[in-house]
Amino acid sequence: MTRKEPKHLSCTFPLLCFFFSFIAHTVPNMAYPLSTSSRWIVDENGQRVKLACVNWPSHLQPVVAEGLSKQPVDAVAKKIVEMGFNCVRLTWPLDLMTNETLANNVTVRQSFQSLGLTDDIVGFQTNNPSIIDFSLIEALKMVVTKLGNHNVMAILDNHLTKSGWCCANNDGNGFFGDNFFDPTVWTAALSKMAATFNGVSNVVGMSLRNELRGPKQNVNDWFKYMQQGAEAAHSANKNVLVIMSGLSFDTDLSFIMPRPVHLSFTGKLVFELHWYSFSDGNSWSTNNSNDNCGEVLNRIRNNGGFLLNQGFPLFLSEFGIDERGGNVNNDRYFGCLTGWAAENDVDWSLWALTGTYYLRQGVVGLNEYYGVLDSDWISVRNSSFLQKISLLQSTLQGPGPRTDAYNLVFHPLTGLCLVRSLKDTTMLTLGPCNSSEPWSYTKKTLRIEDQPLCLQSNGPENRVTMSRTGCSRWQTISASRMHLALTTSKNNSLCLDVDATNNILANPCKCLSKDSSCQPMSQWFKIINATRPLKSSKLYKQLENMCPKSDML
Ligand SMILES: *[C@@H]1O[C@H](CO)[C@@H](O)[C@H](O)[C@H]1NC(C)=O
Ligand SMILES: *[C@@H]1O[C@H](CO)[C@@H](O)[C@H](O)[C@H]1NC(C)=O
Ligand SMILES: *[C@@H]1O[C@H](CO)[C@@H](O)[C@H](O)[C@H]1NC(C)=O
Ligand SMILES: *[C@@H]1O[C@H](CO)[C@@H](O)[C@H](O)[C@H]1NC(C)=O
Ligand SMILES: *[C@@H]1O[C@H](CO)[C@@H](O)[C@H](O)[C@H]1NC(C)=O
Ligand SMILES: *[C@@H]1O[C@H](CO)[C@@H](O)[C@H](O)[C@H]1NC(C)=O
Ligand SMILES: *[C@@H]1O[C@H](CO)[C@@H](O)[C@H](O)[C@H]1NC(C)=O
Repeated sequence: MTRKEPKHLSCTFPLLCFFFSFIAHTVPNMAYPLSTSSRWIVDENGQRVKLACVNWPSHLQPVVAEGLSKQPVDAVAKKIVEMGFNCVRLTWPLDLMTNETLANNVTVRQSFQSLGLTDDIVGFQTNNPSIIDFSLIEALKMVVTKLGNHNVMAILDNHLTKSGWCCANNDGNGFFGDNFFDPTVWTAALSKMAATFNGVSNVVGMSLRNELRGPKQNVNDWFKYMQQGAEAAHSANKNVLVIMSGLSFDTDLSFIMPRPVHLSFTGKLVFELHWYSFSDGNSWSTNNSNDNCGEVLNRIRNNGGFLLNQGFPLFLSEFGIDERGGNVNNDRYFGCLTGWAAENDVDWSLWALTGTYYLRQGVVGLNEYYGVLDSDWISVRNSSFLQKISLLQSTLQGPGPRTDAYNLVFHPLTGLCLVRSLKDTTMLTLGPCNSSEPWSYTKKTLRIEDQPLCLQSNGPENRVTMSRTGCSRWQTISASRMHLALTTSKNNSLCLDVDATNNILANPCKCLSKDSSCQPMSQWFKIINATRPLKSSKLYKQLENMCPKSDML
C-alpha cells in the first residue's frame, strides 16, 4: 500500500523553509518576549506560541514550589517537558512581595521547620541540597531559572494574599477591599514581582490575580483595579503578558463583551478562564450528557469564548479531573471540554502538576488526584489521561509554518484520532492524532485529502470502511454537536462509534437527549480544523527533511 502525501506539503519555497526551520530548531529557544496578535500569542518573529501549561503550586503555607522534597528541581523540569508541556503557571502568594522578612529572611529550611515538616527537610536536603538554605524568594527564582534551562516558560500567578490553600468566597482574599486584598498593596506588590523577574526571558506572563470572587465582587471595581494592576506590572516589566481573571472564581468574563479594557499599551492583554466540572453545579450528573454539553458550551461562549472573536487570546488557565477515573460526570465534562479546546485551539494550563502537597489544609503529604505526577513526583499518575490532552498540546492553527487547511477527526474520550488501520487500510481505527492523514470534511463526506477515498457505512454494528465509490454522508447532531450521524437513516439512528478495541463502526446513536444515565462518549467526535503540521507527525518530519540543511538557523 502506498500513502500519497498531499502535494501541497513541499518545502520548495525558501520562505516556508525559513519558517519551518525556525520552528523546528528554535522552539526550545523561542524568540521572547511574547505578545498578542489578534487572538494568538506570538513570539518576536510573529510565530504563534501556544501555551500548553501545567499549574505548579507554590502558594501554600511553606511558600516553596511543591514536590522538591521528593525530586530534584531539574528532574521535575525535565519531566514537565517529557509530558508534553511547554510552560508552567507558577503560583505565588502576595505576602511574598509585601513581607520582606518572609521573602528574604526565611529560608526553605526555616519555613519547613516552622511548620513541623521535618520529613520534608530531610527529603529537600537530599534532593535539592543547593536550595534548602536559600531564602524563599531566591528559591522561587531558582525554580524559574531551572525551568528556563529546560526551555519551559513560566507565568507567575498571584494566587492569593495569605499563603495557603485557595479559594473560598469568604476567605478574605477574594476581591478588592477584602480583609487581605487592599488594591494599593496589591498593585505595588505586582509591580515588585514584575521588576524582580524583569530580564528573565522565560517569564512570559503574569496572571494578575487568581479567581476573583466573593460578596464584594463588582464590575466597576474590576475595571478600575485590574487596569491599574496591569499598568503597574507593565511599567515594571515591559515583556510580560498581563493576564486578567474573570469574576465568580474566574468563570465569568461576560461583562467585557460590551465594555472593553483600556490600557496605555497594546499587544500584551490576555484573558483567563477556569472551567471545572463543578463550575456547572451538579448538572453533569443530573442532565443528559449531550444537552448539558450544549448548555455548558453556550455558557462558555458567553462567559469567555466570545473574546476569541473579539481578537483576544483566551487562556483556559485551570481545568482538570480526578485522574483515578471512575467518575462518569468528570468523563462527560472532560470530553465536552477537550472537544471545545481542540476546536478553538485555545491556550491552556492544566490543574495540576502536583504529586502531593507538603501541607494542604492541615494534612501533611496530601495527594493531588488532579495532578499529572504521582506521589513520587516523577511517575506519571495516569498515562491514559496524558493521552487525552496530547492533541491539545499541539499547535493546530495560527501564524507559523502552514499547510493547506485540513481536518482531524478527534475522539475526546480517548484523546485519539480517526486513522486508517495499518493492517488493513480499508478499515478504520483510532490512533495518535499525529499519525492521522489529512482529512477533509466537505459536503458531509469524510475524505482523505487528495485521495479518492471516503468513509462508508456498512450498516448497523458493522465496521465502516474506506471506499472509492460509495461515500456516506455524515452530519453532526445532538445538542453537543459531537455525534456524527449517517444522513441517510431517516431518523438519525446510526452514529459513528468505537468498539472496545478501537475499531470504528456505525451503531445506533446513543442517548441523544433526555436520558441522563446513559453515556454517549464513545460516539463523541469532533472535526477539528488545522492549518499547521502536528509536531512529531510524518508531515512535520517530511517538511523538515525537505528543507535543505543550509536553511536551518
Ligand atoms: C512576615 O513574615 C514573617 C515570617 O513568616 C512572619 O513571622 C511575620 O508575622 C510576617 N509579617 C506580617 C506583617 O505578616
Ligand atoms: C534576619 O534574620 C536574622 C537572624 O536570622 C536577624 O538577625 C535579622 O534581624 C533579620 N532581618 C530582618 C530584616 O528581619
Ligand atoms: C440541568 O440540570 C439542572 C438541575 O441540576 C437544571 O436546572 C437545568 O435546566 C438542566 N439543563 C438541561 C439542559 O437539561
Ligand atoms: C486512569 O484513567 C482511566 C480512565 O479514566 C481509569 O480507568 C484508570 O483506572 C486510571 N488508572 C489509574 C492508575 O488511576
Ligand atoms: C429509526 O430509529 C429506530 C431506532 O434506532 C430504528 O429501529 C428505525 O428503523 C429507524 N427508522 C428509520 C425510518 O430509519
Ligand atoms: C472550519 O473550517 C471550515 C472551512 O474553512 C469553516 O467553514 C468552519 O467554520 C471552520 N470551523 C471552525 C470551528 O472554525
Ligand atoms: C507522534 O508523536 C509521538 C510523541 O511525540 C512520537 O513518538 C511518534 O513517533 C509520533 N508518531 C508519528 C506517526 O509521527
